[in-house]
Amino acid sequence: MKSNCNENFHKMKKPVLKSWLRISTVVILGVLILNSKHSVFAQVISPQRPPIEVLGKQGEMLIGADYYPEHWPKERWETDLKLMKEAGFNVVRLAEFAWVLMEPTEGQFEFDWLDEFLALADKYEIRAILGTPTAVMPAWAARKYPETLATKKNGQQIVWGARKNNCFSNGTYRLLSERITRAMAEHFKNTPNVIGWQTDNEFAGPVCHCDRCRANFQDWLRNKYGTLEKLNTAWGTHFWGHKVQTWGEIQVPDCDSEGGNWSPSGNPSACYDWRQFNSWLNVRFQHDQVKAIRKVCPEHHFITHNLMSFHPEINYYDLGKDLDFVSWDNYPVWYKPTISYGAAMAADLMRGIKQKNFLIMEQTAGPCGWGVFYRNTRPGEIRKIAYQQLAHGADGQIWFRWRTCTAGREQYWHGLLGHDGKPLRRYKEAAQVASEYRKLEKYLRGTTVKSDVAIIYDYHSIWSLWGQPGFEGNNVRDAIARYYNAFFRAGINVDMISPEADLSKYKLVLAPDLIILPDKLADKLNDYVKNGGVLLTDCRTGVKDETNLAHKRTLPGLLSPMLGIEIEEYGAITPDMEYELKNENTFSGSYSAIHYCDWITSKGAEVLAGYEQWHLKSFAAVTRNSYGQGKGWYVGTIVKEEAFYDELISKLLEDAGIKTYIDLPIGVEASIRQGNGTKLLFLINHTEDQKKIIIPVGKKELISGEKTSESIELGIYEVAVIEL
Ligand code: GAL
Ligand code: ZN
Repeated sequence: MKSNCNENFHKMKKPVLKSWLRISTVVILGVLILNSKHSVFAQVISPQRPPIEVLGKQGEMLIGADYYPEHWPKERWETDLKLMKEAGFNVVRLAEFAWVLMEPTEGQFEFDWLDEFLALADKYEIRAILGTPTAVMPAWAARKYPETLATKKNGQQIVWGARKNNCFSNGTYRLLSERITRAMAEHFKNTPNVIGWQTDNEFAGPVCHCDRCRANFQDWLRNKYGTLEKLNTAWGTHFWGHKVQTWGEIQVPDCDSEGGNWSPSGNPSACYDWRQFNSWLNVRFQHDQVKAIRKVCPEHHFITHNLMSFHPEINYYDLGKDLDFVSWDNYPVWYKPTISYGAAMAADLMRGIKQKNFLIMEQTAGPCGWGVFYRNTRPGEIRKIAYQQLAHGADGQIWFRWRTCTAGREQYWHGLLGHDGKPLRRYKEAAQVASEYRKLEKYLRGTTVKSDVAIIYDYHSIWSLWGQPGFEGNNVRDAIARYYNAFFRAGINVDMISPEADLSKYKLVLAPDLIILPDKLADKLNDYVKNGGVLLTDCRTGVKDETNLAHKRTLPGLLSPMLGIEIEEYGAITPDMEYELKNENTFSGSYSAIHYCDWITSKGAEVLAGYEQWHLKSFAAVTRNSYGQGKGWYVGTIVKEEAFYDELISKLLEDAGIKTYIDLPIGVEASIRQGNGTKLLFLINHTEDQKKIIIPVGKKELISGEKTSESIELGIYEVAVIEL
């Protein structure tokens, strides 16, 4: 899982994300609908110019860079814009940290500087996405309204500086945010080259522990539960005498949300609600901004937000509801080059948030880091990273950042241009991508990834496992990645979906680590199989109910008849142990069980693998059961060797009647975008070796324009797009 580790590192740089850093460290140790008006494909119409569409019917795809006019002398602006134009760029994202420049004094707005930049950008036909600047409050706001500053777990108020300083419960901050948002919307609503908005920047944190947040949490709970009796039941407060008798007695639980102790002592159900509450606070904050923008701005202005892939703090399905499409920030380059499984899975999740294509709002350009920086993108890598996202449903591409800043915390977070501002290698590679995308856009229009396979990604399970992983290192992302990576190697596209999504369109559904299993969801999974679906689930699925209390049932609870098994006992396999898997003539390799094992008794299911360990000889490790028209698979352990997952996936695909269409050498990724009668096969070589792939003959490779023969050779980081 090295690639995950690399890609996760992106989130390790910020103080507000420290908690996740710690968790990750512990853990590691151990469509777009074409005609939807607000889609990324939506028409982006400037009154003074013919309509462009982001990958729409007549238009252009958005390609550009994150730009900070406030970082450079005005005299430089035109040089930059000219270079952008020459590179084939048509968009910049602006202003997301420029609050104090736009509102230097409370209630007095100065947009002239931005108007001036926008007018110049327009001259070069560069459009703009404007960020609402609320991720950094002006110093005056902190001085005048100190209550807007968040409070840490230890009761200390955050000292203004850095960014993400605010308390999301604070009414004053919400008003300040609404006012600057409204003022921007009013001011820029008719600016011809403003095409859309980014709310704030990378929502998440700080998790504030102020009195207002506590009171707000109490209100939120009152609204959720109605009576204290219900709350006490949901939280299981008969344990340790934690019964509360007034709403005011409810405290912010000790959930380790700011890092530190890996075994927080707070009530797990209270922590689970606390995480939901904090997610809701962010969603509400965004909602205020979205309302303000929609009220003022023309219909064709889109609203998006830059998500952080697997970031666990915010329920992105909820956050996404207010957005026209989601965007995300992709920083996959840190250590030794690896196969970018994580960035593919992240892209599929981002597409899954709204079941729509997405935009890359920040794409890595060069060495990244705040204090120390990591490796540079190698020749061809910028292009390869862009194509990987394109292959998974990105309908636009914005690099972070245009030019490396000479000041501030991000002096070492390198852009397309270095400190010197010269358009060198990285710039040229981005320009190459832009010109190739222009060639491809007519084929890409109206296409997205269509998958027969879905993996359920559930924030409730993430939040439950965050506080109580069960066995060491257990977390949803890694659990999913074991299977996901095998699909990647098999060249099979996967949708990452919410538990609420319609399952009926999928032939195969995986629900790894789905610890929170409300009865309704269990019924839904059972029905899916009964009606002919193939479902795989695994360790710890269904242990808990929707309040994060353990079900009073023998595992796997309501799934038992469908899976044809019972699990009366289970236990961790500690890091100093491995159990050999007993081959029941199903798998060809020899494999070892690690981390965890269910002691499974078959109640009709076929036993596909067991354990060689003396005390587990009578139990199953992997099972399959026919139920209704479908099949229920269960994997009760974690297997050390990835070859096991390759074998498993190929059997699942067979059961589900899904054919692999291409034989891939290791390190080459395949993904298909289709729609509007077009089918495009993307091939991406993630390795630094030459790779040969057998492909359909007589098709067109769209980048070179050449007809295909029976195989294609891809050099280091080389890509191909074949029209099937
Ligand atoms: C992103 C963030 C940017 C910038 C970048 C580099 O996560 O949205 O504003 O900080 O990281 O640190
Ligand atoms: Zn607060």
